[in-house]
Amino acid sequence: MIGTGYVGLVSGVCFADLGNEVICVDKDVDKISKLKRGIIPIYEPGLSELVKKNYKAKRLSFTTSISDAVQKSNIIFLCVGTPTKKNTNAADLSQIFNAAKEVSRNIKSSKIIINKSTVPVTTGDQIEKIISKKAKKKYFSVVSNPEFLREGEAIRDFTFPDRVIIGTSNKKSNRILKSLYSPLISKGAKYINTSRRGAELIKYASNAFLATKISFINEIANLCEKTDVNVEDVSIGMGLDKRIGGRFLRAGPAYGGSCFPKDTRAIVDTGSKFKTDLSIIKSVIRSNENRSKLLLLKVSKILKNKIKNKKICFLGVTFKANTDDMRESSSLTMIPSLSKKGALIKYYDPTGYKNEFSKNKNVFNCTTIEEACFDADLIIIHTEWNDFKSLNYKKLSKKKNFIIYDMRNILPYDKIKKDKIKYFGIGK
Ligand code: UGA
Repeated sequence: MIGTGYVGLVSGVCFADLGNEVICVDKDVDKISKLKRGIIPIYEPGLSELVKKNYKAKRLSFTTSISDAVQKSNIIFLCVGTPTKKNTNAADLSQIFNAAKEVSRNIKSSKIIINKSTVPVTTGDQIEKIISKKAKKKYFSVVSNPEFLREGEAIRDFTFPDRVIIGTSNKKSNRILKSLYSPLISKGAKYINTSRRGAELIKYASNAFLATKISFINEIANLCEKTDVNVEDVSIGMGLDKRIGGRFLRAGPAYGGSCFPKDTRAIVDTGSKFKTDLSIIKSVIRSNENRSKLLLLKVSKILKNKIKNKKICFLGVTFKANTDDMRESSSLTMIPSLSKKGALIKYYDPTGYKNEFSKNKNVFNCTTIEEACFDADLIIIHTEWNDFKSLNYKKLSKKKNFIIYDMRNILPYDKIKKDKIKYFGIGK
Protein backbone atom coordinates (compact mmCIF):
# COMPACT_ATOMS: atom_id res chain seq x y z
CA MET A 1 0.00 0.00 0.00
CA ILE A 2 1.71 3.20 -1.12
CA GLY A 3 0.46 6.06 1.05
CA THR A 4 -0.76 5.72 4.64
CA GLY A 5 -3.54 8.32 4.52
CA TYR A 6 -7.14 7.38 5.19
CA VAL A 7 -7.61 5.02 2.27
CA GLY A 8 -4.13 3.43 2.32
CA LEU A 9 -3.93 2.80 6.04
CA VAL A 10 -7.50 1.55 6.48
CA SER A 11 -7.42 -0.68 3.38
CA GLY A 12 -3.95 -1.98 4.27
CA VAL A 13 -4.93 -2.89 7.81
CA CYS A 14 -8.20 -4.47 6.69
CA PHE A 15 -6.48 -6.52 3.97
CA ALA A 16 -4.00 -7.71 6.63
CA ASP A 17 -6.90 -8.61 8.91
CA LEU A 18 -8.27 -10.77 6.08
CA GLY A 19 -5.05 -12.80 6.26
CA ASN A 20 -2.87 -11.07 3.64
CA GLU A 21 0.71 -9.92 4.17
CA VAL A 22 0.64 -6.15 3.81
CA ILE A 23 3.44 -3.59 3.65
CA CYS A 24 2.38 0.03 4.16
CA VAL A 25 4.77 2.58 2.66
CA ASP A 26 4.99 6.30 3.30
CA LYS A 27 7.63 8.94 2.66
CA ASP A 28 6.84 10.54 6.00
CA VAL A 29 9.54 9.10 8.30
CA ASP A 30 7.86 10.37 11.47
CA LYS A 31 4.49 8.85 10.52
CA ILE A 32 6.03 5.46 9.79
CA SER A 33 8.03 5.43 13.00
CA LYS A 34 4.86 6.31 14.96
CA LEU A 35 2.86 3.59 13.21
CA LYS A 36 5.53 1.07 14.15
CA ARG A 37 5.00 2.11 17.76
CA GLY A 38 1.22 1.76 17.40
CA ILE A 39 0.55 5.51 17.24
CA ILE A 40 -2.19 6.20 14.66
CA PRO A 41 -2.05 9.52 12.77
CA ILE A 42 -5.85 9.81 12.39
CA TYR A 43 -8.86 9.45 14.65
CA GLU A 44 -10.87 6.52 13.33
CA PRO A 45 -12.89 4.25 15.62
CA GLY A 46 -11.43 0.74 15.85
CA LEU A 47 -8.36 1.45 13.69
CA SER A 48 -5.78 1.54 16.45
CA GLU A 49 -6.78 -1.90 17.78
CA LEU A 50 -6.71 -3.42 14.31
CA VAL A 51 -3.26 -1.95 13.52
CA LYS A 52 -1.83 -3.30 16.78
CA LYS A 53 -3.38 -6.75 16.28
CA ASN A 54 -2.10 -7.23 12.74
CA TYR A 55 1.32 -5.67 13.41
CA LYS A 56 1.77 -8.11 16.29
CA ALA A 57 0.68 -11.00 14.07
CA LYS A 58 3.36 -9.85 11.56
CA ARG A 59 0.83 -9.62 8.73
CA LEU A 60 1.28 -5.84 8.69
CA SER A 61 4.53 -3.93 8.40
CA PHE A 62 5.53 -0.31 7.81
CA THR A 63 8.41 1.10 5.81
CA THR A 64 9.66 4.24 4.07
CA SER A 65 11.35 2.19 1.35
CA ILE A 66 9.14 2.04 -1.72
CA SER A 67 11.69 -0.07 -3.62
CA ASP A 68 11.82 -2.71 -0.92
CA ALA A 69 8.01 -2.81 -0.62
CA VAL A 70 7.44 -3.03 -4.39
CA GLN A 71 9.98 -5.79 -4.86
CA LYS A 72 8.42 -7.88 -2.08
CA SER A 73 4.82 -7.44 -3.33
CA ASN A 74 2.66 -8.97 -6.05
CA ILE A 75 -0.09 -6.40 -5.77
CA ILE A 76 0.69 -2.70 -5.37
CA PHE A 77 -2.00 -0.25 -4.38
CA LEU A 78 -1.48 3.46 -5.02
CA CYS A 79 -3.30 5.30 -2.23
CA VAL A 80 -1.80 8.77 -2.29
CA GLY A 81 -3.60 12.09 -2.00
CA THR A 82 -5.20 13.87 -4.96
CA PRO A 83 -6.00 17.28 -3.44
CA THR A 84 -7.23 20.28 -5.43
CA LYS A 85 -4.41 21.90 -7.40
CA LYS A 86 -3.68 25.41 -6.09
CA ASN A 87 -5.82 28.15 -7.69
CA THR A 88 -7.71 25.67 -9.89
CA ASN A 89 -10.53 23.15 -9.57
CA ALA A 90 -8.43 20.34 -11.02
CA ALA A 91 -7.09 17.38 -9.04
CA ASP A 92 -3.37 17.61 -8.33
CA LEU A 93 -1.99 14.34 -9.66
CA SER A 94 1.67 14.97 -8.85
CA GLN A 95 1.73 12.50 -5.92
CA ILE A 96 0.21 9.73 -7.98
CA PHE A 97 2.54 10.28 -10.93
CA ASN A 98 5.58 10.41 -8.62
CA ALA A 99 4.49 7.18 -6.94
CA ALA A 100 4.01 5.55 -10.37
CA LYS A 101 7.54 6.64 -11.39
CA GLU A 102 9.04 5.18 -8.23
CA VAL A 103 7.12 1.94 -8.66
CA SER A 104 8.24 1.65 -12.29
CA ARG A 105 11.92 1.65 -11.27
CA ASN A 106 11.39 -1.41 -9.11
CA ILE A 107 9.39 -3.76 -11.31
CA LYS A 108 11.53 -6.85 -11.83
CA SER A 109 8.76 -9.47 -11.87
CA SER A 110 5.04 -9.62 -12.56
CA LYS A 111 3.01 -6.96 -10.65
CA ILE A 112 -0.53 -5.67 -10.59
CA ILE A 113 -0.60 -1.93 -9.96
CA ILE A 114 -3.92 -0.80 -8.63
CA ASN A 115 -4.96 2.77 -8.29
CA LYS A 116 -7.18 3.32 -5.25
CA SER A 117 -6.72 7.11 -5.13
CA THR A 118 -9.61 9.18 -6.48
CA VAL A 119 -8.45 10.27 -9.92
CA PRO A 120 -10.03 11.85 -13.00
CA VAL A 121 -11.07 9.53 -15.81
CA THR A 122 -8.09 8.61 -18.06
CA THR A 123 -5.50 8.92 -15.24
CA GLY A 124 -4.97 5.13 -15.37
CA ASP A 125 -3.90 5.51 -19.01
CA GLN A 126 -1.31 8.09 -17.92
CA ILE A 127 -0.07 5.88 -15.07
CA GLU A 128 0.38 3.02 -17.55
CA LYS A 129 2.38 5.30 -19.86
CA ILE A 130 4.67 6.41 -17.02
CA ILE A 131 5.33 2.86 -15.85
CA SER A 132 5.92 1.52 -19.35
CA LYS A 133 8.85 3.94 -19.71
CA LYS A 134 10.84 1.85 -17.21
CA ALA A 135 9.14 -1.55 -17.05
CA LYS A 136 8.29 -4.16 -19.68
CA LYS A 137 4.57 -4.25 -20.52
CA LYS A 138 4.34 -8.03 -19.95
CA TYR A 139 5.38 -7.49 -16.30
CA PHE A 140 2.56 -5.25 -15.18
CA SER A 141 -1.05 -4.23 -15.54
CA VAL A 142 -2.65 -1.03 -14.24
CA VAL A 143 -6.08 -1.45 -12.67
CA SER A 144 -8.54 1.03 -11.17
CA ASN A 145 -10.16 0.01 -7.88
CA PRO A 146 -11.87 3.03 -6.30
CA GLU A 147 -12.58 3.00 -2.56
CA PHE A 148 -15.94 4.06 -1.13
CA LEU A 149 -15.27 4.09 2.62
CA ARG A 150 -16.40 7.01 4.77
CA GLU A 151 -14.36 8.61 7.53
CA GLY A 152 -15.68 7.60 10.92
CA GLU A 153 -17.15 4.38 9.47
CA ALA A 154 -14.06 3.35 7.55
CA ILE A 155 -13.48 -0.17 8.86
CA ARG A 156 -17.12 -1.18 8.60
CA ASP A 157 -17.41 0.36 5.12
CA PHE A 158 -14.27 -1.43 3.94
CA THR A 159 -15.32 -4.76 5.38
CA PHE A 160 -18.97 -4.63 4.29
CA PRO A 161 -18.97 -2.64 1.04
CA ASP A 162 -22.05 -2.49 -1.19
CA ARG A 163 -19.79 -3.14 -4.17
CA VAL A 164 -16.21 -3.77 -5.22
CA ILE A 165 -15.41 -2.05 -8.51
CA ILE A 166 -12.50 -3.39 -10.55
CA GLY A 167 -11.59 -1.50 -13.70
CA THR A 168 -9.46 -3.69 -15.97
CA SER A 169 -9.64 -5.62 -19.21
CA ASN A 170 -6.78 -7.88 -18.07
CA LYS A 171 -8.34 -11.25 -17.29
CA LYS A 172 -5.52 -12.48 -15.02
CA SER A 173 -5.56 -9.30 -12.90
CA ASN A 174 -9.32 -9.54 -12.62
CA ARG A 175 -9.08 -13.14 -11.43
CA ILE A 176 -6.45 -12.30 -8.81
CA LEU A 177 -8.43 -9.33 -7.52
CA LYS A 178 -11.62 -11.31 -7.32
CA SER A 179 -9.79 -13.77 -5.13
CA LEU A 180 -8.28 -10.98 -2.98
CA TYR A 181 -11.77 -9.58 -2.39
CA SER A 182 -13.48 -12.97 -2.07
CA PRO A 183 -13.94 -12.69 1.76
CA LEU A 184 -15.97 -9.50 1.18
CA ILE A 185 -17.86 -10.93 -1.80
CA SER A 186 -18.87 -13.95 0.26
CA LYS A 187 -20.38 -11.56 2.83
CA GLY A 188 -22.60 -9.97 0.18
CA ALA A 189 -20.53 -7.34 -1.66
CA LYS A 190 -21.29 -7.18 -5.39
CA TYR A 191 -18.17 -7.60 -7.54
CA ILE A 192 -18.20 -5.52 -10.71
CA ASN A 193 -15.55 -5.81 -13.42
CA THR A 194 -15.66 -2.85 -15.78
CA SER A 195 -13.30 -0.79 -17.90
CA ARG A 196 -10.53 1.14 -16.16
CA ARG A 197 -11.96 4.47 -17.25
CA GLY A 198 -15.41 3.32 -16.18
CA ALA A 199 -14.18 2.54 -12.67
CA GLU A 200 -12.52 5.95 -12.41
CA LEU A 201 -15.71 7.70 -13.41
CA ILE A 202 -17.91 5.58 -11.13
CA LYS A 203 -16.00 7.00 -8.14
CA TYR A 204 -16.47 10.66 -9.10
CA ALA A 205 -20.04 10.19 -10.27
CA SER A 206 -20.90 8.48 -6.96
CA ASN A 207 -19.47 11.28 -4.83
CA ALA A 208 -21.04 13.96 -7.02
CA PHE A 209 -24.41 12.22 -6.82
CA LEU A 210 -24.27 11.89 -3.02
CA ALA A 211 -23.32 15.57 -2.77
CA THR A 212 -26.29 16.37 -5.02
CA LYS A 213 -28.65 14.42 -2.76
CA ILE A 214 -27.45 16.37 0.28
CA SER A 215 -27.69 19.75 -1.43
CA PHE A 216 -31.11 18.82 -2.75
CA ILE A 217 -32.50 18.04 0.70
CA ASN A 218 -30.77 21.12 2.15
CA GLU A 219 -32.65 23.31 -0.33
CA ILE A 220 -35.92 21.49 0.38
CA ALA A 221 -35.20 22.19 4.09
CA ASN A 222 -35.07 25.90 3.27
CA LEU A 223 -38.53 25.63 1.75
CA CYS A 224 -39.78 23.61 4.74
CA GLU A 225 -38.77 26.41 7.09
CA LYS A 226 -40.94 28.85 5.12
CA THR A 227 -43.93 26.51 4.87
CA ASP A 228 -44.00 24.99 8.36
CA VAL A 229 -43.15 21.48 7.19
CA ASN A 230 -40.65 19.19 8.90
CA VAL A 231 -37.89 18.21 6.46
CA GLU A 232 -37.37 14.94 8.29
CA ASP A 233 -40.89 13.89 7.28
CA VAL A 234 -40.03 14.80 3.69
CA SER A 235 -36.78 12.76 3.84
CA ILE A 236 -38.63 9.73 5.17
CA GLY A 237 -41.45 10.11 2.67
CA MET A 238 -39.05 10.49 -0.26
CA GLY A 239 -36.54 7.91 0.91
CA LEU A 240 -39.10 5.13 1.12
CA ASP A 241 -39.33 5.24 -2.66
CA LYS A 242 -36.72 2.60 -3.53
CA ARG A 243 -35.76 4.56 -6.64
CA ILE A 244 -34.66 7.41 -4.36
CA GLY A 245 -33.46 5.67 -1.15
CA GLY A 246 -33.36 7.20 2.30
CA ARG A 247 -29.62 7.61 2.87
CA PHE A 248 -27.77 10.91 2.41
CA LEU A 249 -31.04 12.81 2.73
CA ARG A 250 -30.15 14.32 6.12
CA ALA A 251 -30.42 18.09 5.93
CA GLY A 252 -27.74 20.02 7.81
CA PRO A 253 -24.92 22.50 7.33
CA ALA A 254 -22.90 22.62 4.12
CA TYR A 255 -21.35 19.24 3.33
CA GLY A 256 -17.61 19.18 3.94
CA GLY A 257 -14.69 16.82 4.29
CA SER A 258 -11.78 15.86 2.12
CA CYS A 259 -13.89 14.33 -0.65
CA PHE A 260 -17.21 15.86 -1.73
CA PRO A 261 -16.02 19.48 -2.08
CA LYS A 262 -12.79 18.53 -3.89
CA ASP A 263 -14.30 15.77 -6.05
CA THR A 264 -17.28 17.82 -7.25
CA ARG A 265 -14.85 20.56 -8.30
CA ALA A 266 -12.57 18.05 -10.01
CA ILE A 267 -15.31 16.33 -12.02
CA VAL A 268 -16.53 19.71 -13.28
CA ASP A 269 -12.95 20.45 -14.30
CA THR A 270 -12.70 17.10 -16.09
CA GLY A 271 -16.02 17.88 -17.78
CA SER A 272 -14.66 21.13 -19.14
CA LYS A 273 -11.46 19.42 -20.36
CA PHE A 274 -13.68 17.04 -22.34
CA LYS A 275 -15.99 19.90 -23.42
CA THR A 276 -18.92 18.64 -21.32
CA ASP A 277 -20.96 21.04 -19.25
CA LEU A 278 -21.82 19.35 -15.92
CA SER A 279 -24.35 22.02 -15.05
CA ILE A 280 -26.11 20.09 -12.27
CA ILE A 281 -22.87 19.46 -10.36
CA LYS A 282 -21.85 23.10 -10.87
CA SER A 283 -25.07 24.24 -9.28
CA VAL A 284 -24.59 21.78 -6.38
CA ILE A 285 -21.18 23.36 -5.69
CA ARG A 286 -22.76 26.83 -5.73
CA SER A 287 -25.64 25.74 -3.50
CA ASN A 288 -23.22 24.24 -0.97
CA GLU A 289 -21.00 27.32 -0.97
CA ASN A 290 -24.07 29.47 -0.23
CA ARG A 291 -25.23 27.17 2.55
CA SER A 292 -22.88 28.43 5.28
CA LYS A 293 -23.81 32.04 4.45
CA LEU A 294 -27.47 31.11 4.68
CA LEU A 295 -27.09 29.43 8.08
CA LEU A 296 -25.09 32.43 9.31
CA LEU A 297 -27.96 34.71 8.30
CA LYS A 298 -30.26 32.47 10.32
CA VAL A 299 -27.94 32.75 13.35
CA SER A 300 -28.10 36.50 12.98
CA LYS A 301 -31.91 36.38 12.76
CA ILE A 302 -32.11 34.12 15.82
CA LEU A 303 -30.04 36.65 17.77
CA LYS A 304 -32.18 39.53 16.44
CA ASN A 305 -29.18 40.89 14.53
CA LYS A 306 -27.26 41.53 17.75
CA ILE A 307 -24.16 39.36 17.50
CA LYS A 308 -21.64 41.62 19.26
CA ASN A 309 -20.75 40.28 22.73
CA LYS A 310 -23.22 37.42 22.39
CA LYS A 311 -21.92 34.23 23.99
CA ILE A 312 -22.09 31.48 21.38
CA CYS A 313 -21.17 27.86 22.06
CA PHE A 314 -20.33 25.45 19.24
CA LEU A 315 -20.79 21.78 20.05
CA GLY A 316 -18.68 19.91 17.51
CA VAL A 317 -16.56 21.58 14.87
CA THR A 318 -15.36 18.68 12.69
CA PHE A 319 -17.07 18.18 9.31
CA LYS A 320 -18.92 15.12 10.64
CA ALA A 321 -18.98 12.93 13.73
CA ASN A 322 -16.42 10.22 14.58
CA THR A 323 -13.53 11.98 12.89
CA ASP A 324 -11.01 14.64 13.89
CA ASP A 325 -10.92 15.91 10.31
CA MET A 326 -11.54 19.64 9.90
CA ARG A 327 -11.10 19.77 6.12
CA GLU A 328 -13.77 21.97 4.52
CA SER A 329 -15.88 21.83 7.69
CA SER A 330 -18.56 24.52 7.64
CA SER A 331 -17.38 25.59 11.11
CA LEU A 332 -14.33 27.04 9.35
CA THR A 333 -16.65 29.57 7.68
CA MET A 334 -19.06 30.11 10.56
CA ILE A 335 -16.77 30.60 13.55
CA PRO A 336 -14.41 33.18 11.95
CA SER A 337 -17.38 35.11 10.57
CA LEU A 338 -19.15 35.27 13.96
CA SER A 339 -15.87 36.14 15.69
CA LYS A 340 -15.38 39.07 13.27
CA LYS A 341 -18.85 40.30 14.18
CA GLY A 342 -17.83 40.44 17.85
CA ALA A 343 -19.32 37.21 19.19
CA LEU A 344 -17.63 35.51 22.15
CA ILE A 345 -17.24 31.90 21.07
CA LYS A 346 -16.52 28.78 23.05
CA TYR A 347 -16.33 25.42 21.32
CA TYR A 348 -16.11 21.82 22.40
CA ASP A 349 -15.27 18.89 20.17
CA PRO A 350 -14.66 15.33 21.40
CA THR A 351 -11.46 15.36 19.32
CA GLY A 352 -10.15 18.41 21.16
CA TYR A 353 -8.43 21.68 20.34
CA LYS A 354 -8.33 22.89 16.74
CA ASN A 355 -5.42 24.94 15.54
CA GLU A 356 -7.60 26.30 12.71
CA PHE A 357 -9.21 28.82 15.11
CA SER A 358 -6.03 29.91 16.86
CA LYS A 359 -5.93 33.25 15.05
CA ASN A 360 -9.62 34.11 15.56
CA LYS A 361 -10.43 36.70 18.20
CA ASN A 362 -12.46 35.54 21.21
CA VAL A 363 -12.66 31.90 20.14
CA PHE A 364 -11.86 29.51 22.98
CA ASN A 365 -11.56 25.74 23.11
CA CYS A 366 -13.22 24.07 26.11
CA THR A 367 -12.25 20.68 27.41
CA THR A 368 -15.73 19.83 28.69
CA ILE A 369 -19.26 20.24 27.36
CA GLU A 370 -20.24 21.89 30.67
CA GLU A 371 -17.60 24.59 30.30
CA ALA A 372 -18.58 25.26 26.69
CA CYS A 373 -22.33 25.56 27.36
CA PHE A 374 -22.12 27.50 30.63
CA ASP A 375 -23.75 30.93 30.36
CA ALA A 376 -24.20 30.64 26.56
CA ASP A 377 -26.81 32.80 24.84
CA LEU A 378 -26.83 30.46 21.88
CA ILE A 379 -25.75 26.82 21.67
CA ILE A 380 -25.08 25.67 18.13
CA ILE A 381 -24.98 21.92 17.60
CA HIS A 382 -22.70 21.82 14.59
CA THR A 383 -21.58 18.17 14.48
CA GLU A 384 -23.77 15.16 15.19
CA TRP A 385 -21.61 13.49 17.88
CA ASN A 386 -23.60 11.08 20.07
CA ASP A 387 -22.23 12.96 23.09
CA PHE A 388 -24.64 15.84 22.41
CA LYS A 389 -27.85 13.86 21.88
CA SER A 390 -29.13 13.35 25.43
CA LEU A 391 -27.86 16.29 27.44
CA ASN A 392 -29.87 18.34 29.88
CA TYR A 393 -29.28 21.66 28.16
CA LYS A 394 -31.28 23.65 30.71
CA LYS A 395 -28.93 22.51 33.42
CA LEU A 396 -25.87 23.12 31.26
CA SER A 397 -26.55 26.65 30.07
CA LYS A 398 -27.81 28.12 33.36
CA LYS A 399 -28.95 31.16 31.37
CA LYS A 400 -32.68 31.76 31.47
CA ASN A 401 -33.37 32.56 27.84
CA PHE A 402 -30.73 30.56 26.08
CA ILE A 403 -31.41 29.33 22.55
CA ILE A 404 -30.40 26.11 20.80
CA TYR A 405 -29.70 25.98 17.06
CA ASP A 406 -29.53 22.29 16.23
CA MET A 407 -27.92 22.20 12.78
CA ARG A 408 -28.08 18.38 12.67
CA ASN A 409 -31.61 17.84 14.00
CA ILE A 410 -30.31 15.44 16.64
CA LEU A 411 -32.31 16.56 19.67
CA PRO A 412 -35.70 15.03 20.50
CA TYR A 413 -38.04 17.72 19.24
CA ASP A 414 -41.01 16.81 21.47
CA LYS A 415 -38.94 16.79 24.66
CA ILE A 416 -37.29 20.10 23.79
CA LYS A 417 -40.73 21.60 23.18
CA LYS A 418 -42.03 20.18 26.47
CA ASP A 419 -39.04 21.66 28.31
CA LYS A 420 -39.94 25.03 26.73
CA ILE A 421 -36.42 25.52 25.35
CA LYS A 422 -36.17 28.09 22.58
CA TYR A 423 -35.12 25.80 19.77
CA PHE A 424 -34.36 26.04 16.07
CA GLY A 425 -33.60 23.04 13.90
CA ILE A 426 -32.97 22.66 10.19
CA GLY A 427 -35.99 22.59 7.92
CA LYS A 428 -38.59 22.65 10.65
C1 UGA B 1 -17.47 10.38 1.27
C2 UGA B 1 -18.34 9.26 0.69
O1 UGA B 1 -19.51 9.08 1.47
C3 UGA B 1 -17.56 7.94 0.64
O2 UGA B 1 -18.35 6.94 0.00
C4 UGA B 1 -16.28 8.15 -0.15
O3 UGA B 1 -15.48 6.98 -0.18
C5 UGA B 1 -15.47 9.27 0.49
O4 UGA B 1 -16.27 10.48 0.51
C6 UGA B 1 -14.24 9.48 -0.34
O5 UGA B 1 -14.36 9.82 -1.53
O6 UGA B 1 -13.12 9.16 0.13
P1 UGA B 1 -16.75 11.12 3.77
O7 UGA B 1 -16.31 12.40 3.12
O8 UGA B 1 -15.82 10.42 4.68
O9 UGA B 1 -17.16 10.05 2.63
O10 UGA B 1 -18.05 11.42 4.62
P2 UGA B 1 -19.64 11.38 4.39
O11 UGA B 1 -20.23 10.56 5.45
O12 UGA B 1 -20.00 11.06 3.01
O13 UGA B 1 -20.02 12.92 4.69
C7 UGA B 1 -19.63 13.98 3.82
C8 UGA B 1 -20.36 15.25 4.18
O14 UGA B 1 -21.74 15.12 3.88
C9 UGA B 1 -20.30 15.57 5.69
O15 UGA B 1 -20.12 16.96 5.86
C10 UGA B 1 -21.66 15.12 6.20
O16 UGA B 1 -22.06 15.79 7.36
C11 UGA B 1 -22.53 15.46 5.01
N1 UGA B 1 -23.81 14.70 4.97
C12 UGA B 1 -23.81 13.36 4.76
C13 UGA B 1 -24.99 15.39 5.15
O17 UGA B 1 -25.01 16.63 5.35
N2 UGA B 1 -26.17 14.71 5.08
C14 UGA B 1 -26.21 13.38 4.85
O18 UGA B 1 -27.33 12.81 4.79
C15 UGA B 1 -25.00 12.69 4.70
